[in-house]
Amino acid sequence: MLERAFPLAGQVALVTGASRGIGRATALRLSQAGATLVLAARTEPSLQEVAEHIRSFGREALVVPTDVADPRQLEALVTTIQQQFRRLDLLVNNAGGGSPRTLIHKARPAEWEWTLRVNLWATMTLTQLVLPMMIERRAGAIVNIGSVAGMTGKAGEAAYAAAKFGVRGFTQALFEEVRDYGIKVALICPGYVDTAMIPPNRRLEREKMLAPEDVAEAVYQVATSSPRSCPLEILLQPQHNPFRT
Ligand SMILES: NC(=O)c1ccc[n+]([C@@H]2O[C@H](COP(=O)([O-])OP(=O)(O)OC[C@H]3O[C@@H](n4cnc5c(N)ncnc54)[C@H](OP(=O)(O)O)[C@@H]3O)[C@@H](O)[C@H]2O)c1
Repeated sequence: MLERAFPLAGQVALVTGASRGIGRATALRLSQAGATLVLAARTEPSLQEVAEHIRSFGREALVVPTDVADPRQLEALVTTIQQQFRRLDLLVNNAGGGSPRTLIHKARPAEWEWTLRVNLWATMTLTQLVLPMMIERRAGAIVNIGSVAGMTGKAGEAAYAAAKFGVRGFTQALFEEVRDYGIKVALICPGYVDTAMIPPNRRLEREKMLAPEDVAEAVYQVATSSPRSCPLEILLQPQHNPFRT
């Protein structure tokens, strides 16, 4: 009975970019299902607010302020998890975002580097760091947050598209490498989600966009899917077109 109400009880989940938006909603959803949460992002006060929320309904939450672009901070994050919990059941590589829309011939290399580093490189590196823990226990799940922008390239979004296409390729390769260890691997590709990442735009009807909770629900579904199956790619679109016609 308890297992059905709290299917993730006893499990430890790490969510990057947990300070707001999709990551925050995902952390709350997983903790409602019983998981202990490790919350990583750069903005400590926001992480503390999410942790307090989680503790208010009786679950454990650990805040580890982390810039995912920094390899030493990623190593320190994983060391902290090893020391505190000696296990990691679920990694959600969610931290990310894009730079303002820029045409390729006008883009600044530093912006490309940031976009690729936070969305792609950090996903690859953090996955590499946690994998030994999962392989040893022959269990775990890794959920990467991609984007519809990682399935079709659009003008002005070259670096973001390259990063999210990269995340898709990485996810597919990762699945092939670890599937026989019983480790689930999934890519969730949302369309427009109503978060701070999407700036105000008069052409967009925000109430028609996905809510962060919709993406969180998809992560929860991956985490609780049957051990026999793996929802390797989930394309999540708003039901109604959020662009005014
Ligand atoms: N919103 C959309 O329409 C949409 C659609 C498809 C995919 N996505 C993807 O969904 C993910 C979450 O985005 P969101 O919409 O929830 O945007 P958001 O509200 O802007 O949240 C982005 C999160 O990433 C964290 N982050 C950014 N840079 C970081 C860094 N260097 N180190 C650690 N954390 C960092 C931010 O935390 P701090 O600033 O506190 O570090 C924040 O928690 C991203 O990967 C994004 O590409 C979004």
